[in-house]
Amino acid sequence: MSTSWLKNSGFEGSCRRGETNHKYTRPLGGVARRRMIPAGMLAKRERGGRLFAVPSGEGPSGVGETALGAAMMRAEESARADRLFDDPFAAAFVAAAPDAFADGPDPDDPAIAALTDAFRTNMALRTCFYDDYLRTACAQGCRQVVLVAAGLDTRAFRLDWPDGARIFELDLPEVLKFKDTVLADRDARARCTRTAVGIDLREDWPNELTKAGFDANVSTAWTAEGLLAYLSHDDAARLLTRITELSRPDSQLAVEAARLADDSTLTHAQAMPDLDQVSTLWKGGLNQDAAEWLRDRGWDVDEHDRATLAARYDRPISDTSTGGYLTAIRER
Ligand SMILES: C[S@@+](CC[C@H](N)C(=O)[O-])C[C@H]1O[C@@H](n2cnc3c(N)ncnc32)[C@H](O)[C@@H]1O
Repeated sequence: MSTSWLKNSGFEGSCRRGETNHKYTRPLGGVARRRMIPAGMLAKRERGGRLFAVPSGEGPSGVGETALGAAMMRAEESARADRLFDDPFAAAFVAAAPDAFADGPDPDDPAIAALTDAFRTNMALRTCFYDDYLRTACAQGCRQVVLVAAGLDTRAFRLDWPDGARIFELDLPEVLKFKDTVLADRDARARCTRTAVGIDLREDWPNELTKAGFDANVSTAWTAEGLLAYLSHDDAARLLTRITELSRPDSQLAVEAARLADDSTLTHAQAMPDLDQVSTLWKGGLNQDAAEWLRDRGWDVDEHDRATLAARYDRPISDTSTGGYLTAIRER
């Protein structure tokens, strides 16, 4: 049976327009003020004012580079007067990897600019959605969180966590190494107990997670944000099966709902040769409806379409934008 807090109207807390979070870091100066390069693909614009950079070639690459794309969009959202959230570290990640997406398409191409705008809006809504999901889970008593494919997500540093909250971040070792290097340079302090576990999520990550201190007897809030599309069907299904096996009743999960083919922004991007650098990384994810897949395995699922989120967060999307997210509670 569903509990009301997971329903569209039931989230605790909310992303707050225009608030800043910069008390948690040193000011970024020129980096925060300059226009960030959107969508993680458009690196032809200048990138002045960098504070700290890893040596050339040492930033995340391949699928890991997509974490920088997400950080770029969060940096841009954080610089808006009407921002829906503030990620005070996102711009520092971008500045630290000046080579990222160096061969990206021309950002002034109108088709690229329009798609970039759609990606940016989707990212703002997505960040708020997962933020609110986690706030709500904690308000309901959850103290163990696993961010699967955490990338350069800084929720451990920027959200208010209750006493006793423990967060595990899973991603490729090179991504988490880069992240920790930049955060250390910023003197960032996690606001909960944070454990980073570097691993390929197609491998035996449950074993590594357990060795790192994860307790399968405790109910958990899981996120798999921006991940499934980068996995094949078999790898995505295996990952969700493992999450299910590690989830005692009352555990929760938030994940993208749409198959790649059902997300209009992704399918549009896939059709544009200029975006091959990113779209060739997409492996399709689950080839069946994720809500159905989870229900068949004992999860009580709620669906949250993007249009509803856009209305909730007052950030308009185009009429043709499809896709959305799932929240689920483990029943048995
Ligand atoms: C688009 S990013 C999203 C990151 C983060 N959740 C966010 O929203 O900012 C996709 C992430 O999935 C990670 N990823 C993709 N395939 C992976 C794999 N096989 N093992 C570990 N991480 C993987 C990448 O390294 C990257 O950080």
